[in-house]
Amino acid sequence: MNKLTVRDVDVSGKRVLVRVDFNVPLDERTGAITDDSRIWAALPTIRYLIDRGARVILASHLGRPDGKVDEKLRMTAVAQRLSQILGQRVEATRDCIGAETERSVAALKNGDVILLENLRFHSAEEENDPLFAQELAKLADIFVDDAFGTAHRSHASIVGVAKLLPAVAGLLMEEELKMLGGILDNPTHPFAALLGGAKISDKVAMVENIMGKVDSILVGGGMAATFLKAGNLEVGLSLVEEEMLETATDLMEKATRGGVRLLLPDDVLVAKEISAEATCQVVPVGEIPSDMRVVDIGPQTIQSFSKELRGCRTIFWNGPMGIYEISKFAEGTLALARLLAESQAATVIGGGSTAEVVSDMGLTDKMTFVSTGGGASLQFLSGKTLPGVDALLDKDSPDVSGM
Ligand code: 3PG
Ligand code: MG
Repeated sequence: MNKLTVRDVDVSGKRVLVRVDFNVPLDERTGAITDDSRIWAALPTIRYLIDRGARVILASHLGRPDGKVDEKLRMTAVAQRLSQILGQRVEATRDCIGAETERSVAALKNGDVILLENLRFHSAEEENDPLFAQELAKLADIFVDDAFGTAHRSHASIVGVAKLLPAVAGLLMEEELKMLGGILDNPTHPFAALLGGAKISDKVAMVENIMGKVDSILVGGGMAATFLKAGNLEVGLSLVEEEMLETATDLMEKATRGGVRLLLPDDVLVAKEISAEATCQVVPVGEIPSDMRVVDIGPQTIQSFSKELRGCRTIFWNGPMGIYEISKFAEGTLALARLLAESQAATVIGGGSTAEVVSDMGLTDKMTFVSTGGGASLQFLSGKTLPGVDALLDKDSPDVSGM
């Protein structure tokens, strides 16, 4: 990575604003954090700063409150969780900017940690408003961006602040770029991409970019229906992205021309409706009933995908194989997650729902790397520059020793 990191600057006694991605999933009913992986992932940077006597000012968004205060999306629960994990007090401020926040920051001692209130309570955050960026920047001496998961957003706390303070990457940001960059730059072959999830449209750019690097692409999940339809099969009530049919055909042709094996399901689990009570059955892909929809890959497909993956030395996985939230429709996703966990291959997991599945199954430690970025990892693997990375100082920047 050609960006400066937190290791390249002197943070001792400095006020360090750290953009983290603490956008953690919350239980709709109780508001409890259902997966704290993103908090754990930021710990190396936070501990690094505490150990060196920095005054640590953490900032994040949580959910999509659209520029208004939403009591359910306050950072209080996140601050509590972080405080438990760190074993030290983490104050949550009532706002991310303003006089009261400035007073809390001024009261920090070396090694203290504070968590600013949800950045997205201000619409100025997503608008990348320069005045809002200034308000944030004046809280600190140095800016550390550790929010890989939000690096695809050009928001004030990401690109705006980076223009106003010396801006370097955090340790998680560095690790994400190294691990995801590694599968693009020099993957050990054979290299397979296992793709699922609802839509192709989210993933076309990424698939096109990795087409020249992978040996095989395995497609399951909702998006398989669009590929099957593009291959002239009937898919019943399955969600098909009609406007993507040509793209799917095009990708299949590109794979053939490039010598990439593109595997689609041989059989699928179909159901009358998406509910735990629905009648369901396994059928070959050529026999999907007109009144049913695809909800998972079938047992034969699990076998053929497993066989392909067992021969690989690098596997990238993004997107569940079916509607895994309903346990009857989760078998394909669970079986392949277990296979990856046991595999000797380098296994790299795209973030978002795929990371949640792996974490729910307690398999995170069994994977080589689980990204904290959903959209961000897709954008990175599309070969596009992430605004949040672009905004950071380059390694060959003029002297930063005094920072
Ligand atoms: C994510 O969870 O993908 C990131 O935190 C970004 O959130 P957003 O999609 O609401 O911008
Ligand atoms: Mg998202």
